[in-house]
Amino acid sequence: MSRSAHPAGPRHADVLPEGHYAAPADDLNALDPKVWAHTVGRDADGVVTVGGLPVTQLAEEYGTPAYILDEADFRDRARAWRTAFGTDADVFYAGKAFLSRAVVRWLDEEGLNLDVCSGGELATALSAGMPAERIAFHGNNKSPEEIERAVRAGVGRIVLDSFQEIVRVAHIAQSLGKRQRVQIRITVGVEAHTHEFIATAHEDQKFGIPLAGGQAAEAVRRALQLDGLEVIGIHSHIGSQIFDMSGFEVAAHRVVGLLKDIRDEHGVELPEIDLGGGLGIAYTSDDDPREPHEIAKALTEIVTRECEGARLRTPRISVEPGRAIVGPTAFTLYEVGTVKPLDGLRTYVSVDGGMSDNIRTALYDAEYSVALASRTSDAEPMLVRVVGKHCESGDIVVKDAFLPGDLAPGDLIAVPATGAYCRSMASNYNHVLRPPVVSVRDGAARVVVRRETEEDLLRLDVG
Ligand code: LLP
Repeated sequence: MSRSAHPAGPRHADVLPEGHYAAPADDLNALDPKVWAHTVGRDADGVVTVGGLPVTQLAEEYGTPAYILDEADFRDRARAWRTAFGTDADVFYAGKAFLSRAVVRWLDEEGLNLDVCSGGELATALSAGMPAERIAFHGNNKSPEEIERAVRAGVGRIVLDSFQEIVRVAHIAQSLGKRQRVQIRITVGVEAHTHEFIATAHEDQKFGIPLAGGQAAEAVRRALQLDGLEVIGIHSHIGSQIFDMSGFEVAAHRVVGLLKDIRDEHGVELPEIDLGGGLGIAYTSDDDPREPHEIAKALTEIVTRECEGARLRTPRISVEPGRAIVGPTAFTLYEVGTVKPLDGLRTYVSVDGGMSDNIRTALYDAEYSVALASRTSDAEPMLVRVVGKHCESGDIVVKDAFLPGDLAPGDLIAVPATGAYCRSMASNYNHVLRPPVVSVRDGAARVVVRRETEEDLLRLDVG
């Protein structure tokens, strides 16, 4: 491997183009524990290791690009959420962040419940043996077939998202001779401080039934009259990658306000509220996420206080973290293919994946970190943009970061915090094959989702 494809040295230090980037870290070889999975470190040769295995060995065995998932870290984080909320609350892992049968088993073993939002996620959960009563079924347009499958399976709750769905689920449940436990998802009118596409509690969007104008109250009124439904609570999810707890505070206040109105009108105290997911994680060293025990304490206090004020029994709380559990537990391992310095601008580093394995940068302007993983280097930092191999100039994995100036083709680089919404949002754009998910634990690795093959692609193309 050539160690220097182009002259090393400080680059562009005086002509930094516009963009969001942190100053180069003091030591580019350092791995900030905030953004890397728990067992990640470097061995004596400077190679990044995870679960005791060097990434060079993982790349050799499983190829690149690959998502490398730290199983011990996943279990630790799942357990931390479970423990933080205790036995008086429920933690539903949001499967949309990343779901596979191995993950379902880990969640089951760690005592978490599961939120699914499609027939495919439901099928994955059931096939891995998750007890149906611990599954919540979400979505703003569940098909009648999906609803029927969920009701037949006996899912613990269906979260209703529209007036039509209230009737649809009631009808299906009744026709199957069942009474389905449901929550009603409402929008509380909170502006979450996050990207527009992942904010979900303001009123002008597709999810939930607005509290404003009495619509949520009307939805409850109708649902309570239907024999096929057992209304167990109210659901609110305000958005994703949120650091500020004030949005949850307002949401809890408004949800409890609705519970009070329901009690006053119907004489019924609904026993549960779900405050959704959305807690932020560190993608770069600048992000400071809250710990699960702080979140649990804050949410429990808010709900208890609001209920005391409204003279209501405190309902059972549930939460639905996805990203906060799986996000930090995985990194994407890429091999550098080309290094292209553009004078006065930056250096473009092309890797063997791209927007097909991580669409978040293109879609949400998401920020990521990156590190040279197959070795350390003392070369001066250079400002890079890590890009993929797709035919699209927006195919950016890491918009602005610093890597050592002697980076060369053949080096392995790793992008941390890609456990959530990367494999689950992966595509086949340009017929690029989706990478595997390799889980690592105690010095052993195994494929939990295999790499896609050209045969897989051709199998779908029936000519
Ligand atoms: N519960 C509900 C009802 C949700 O809609 C979501 C996320 C969650 C829980 C989990 O949110 P989390 O804790 O993972 O933030 N693709 C976007 C995120 C979309 C989130 C959709 N709903 C991204 O890559 O940032």
